[in-house]
Amino acid sequence: MKEFLDLLRNDHHQFDQGKLEDYFGSEPFALVAKWLREAIERGVSEPNAMSISTIGLDGFPHSRIVYLKELLEEGPIFYTNYNSAKGKALEANPKVHALIFWPGMERQISITGTVEKVPEEMSDEYFQSRPWGSKIGAWASQQSEELASRDELENRVKELAELFPVEVPRPPHWGGYVIKPVQIEFWQGRASRLHDRIVFELNDGNWRVFRKNP
Ligand SMILES: Cc1cc2nc3c(=O)[nH]c(=O)nc-3n(C[C@H](O)[C@H](O)[C@H](O)COP(=O)(O)O)c2cc1C
Repeated sequence: MKEFLDLLRNDHHQFDQGKLEDYFGSEPFALVAKWLREAIERGVSEPNAMSISTIGLDGFPHSRIVYLKELLEEGPIFYTNYNSAKGKALEANPKVHALIFWPGMERQISITGTVEKVPEEMSDEYFQSRPWGSKIGAWASQQSEELASRDELENRVKELAELFPVEVPRPPHWGGYVIKPVQIEFWQGRASRLHDRIVFELNDGNWRVFRKNP
């Protein structure tokens, strides 16, 4: 137990993967894209996994991982079930916080913003690019609803597989959200916990860029 507690308290991480010094004035989405590309090139696990926090109908914040699937000029996009807990939360309050963490690169990006549903054609196009099984799954899963048993889900999959043996239309309740940021923070770990934090904040349509204490 003592060794376990010592492991948790170990504070020797060096943070020596890089600096964030020459990005002032650059456009934040270009930097998001650059960091994503570098994470993919570095071969990090799940480079586009992003935590999305919403304020639930119960008033509590709720977070879950989704995949960042596209990067538009307006912001990052993720796809989900619009009737899920997060979908219902976003219907009532479209404000989100998104967080991407690349441990091996000692980098995180936090995005504060408001979501909007993407145009239906965009959701259609992405849905149709997915494997058949994932498409059936999107129909079968009443995401976030209580499920009586695994069998119930698998029986629904069987029925849907018979209904849609080849072509699977996009469920009307499934699609994308674009996060329109009001603030984006780039964090790069540095030695002695003196990390770099560069914040882009939207001010009258322009990005104000500033540094924050670590
Ligand atoms: C690596 C990973 C990727 C995921 N990607 C998605 C995704 O792109 N869309 C999605 O709806 N759920 C995704 N999930 C599942 C969500 O984390 C979550 O369980 C689900 O969306 C239901 O969330 P909710 O009940 O809060 O609405 C992913 C989970 C993991 C661990």
